[in-house]
Amino acid sequence: MRVTVSRKAHFNAAHRLYRPDWDDAKNENVFGKCANPHYHGHNYELIVSVTGAIDPETGYVMDMKVLKDLIVDHVENAFDHKNLNEQVLEFKQLIPTAENIAVVIYNKLRPHITPENDLEVVLYETPRNFVKYNGMSC
Ligand code: NI
Repeated sequence: MRVTVSRKAHFNAAHRLYRPDWDDAKNENVFGKCANPHYHGHNYELIVSVTGAIDPETGYVMDMKVLKDLIVDHVENAFDHKNLNEQVLEFKQLIPTAENIAVVIYNKLRPHITPENDLEVVLYETPRNFVKYNGMSC
């Protein structure tokens, strides 16, 4: 029997989607308003889910306090009120799309989750646009 437990969190961050090897016209053509050189912000909503067996001793798949603290330490403290392009190392060479942000969050949390348990990250960039990553490489 495997059960999924989930924790919601959020952070506010600014970003700009662009490739330095493209000119402004091409960046605007591909990324639209998200290419704005002056950056713009999003209220990101995050759902982190861990799936595994229930520990017969505690009745938990994972202690939610531990999961909450992992998200605070590795995601909120790293991203909240930051300019992702300028202030977050992972996005120096990586375009901070919702897809890439979800993969970065997954990779930051994965080492701290019991290897037998599955991890999934859902990231809402807007109330209607969201992405999901569960570690599948292809
Ligand atoms: Ni954007």
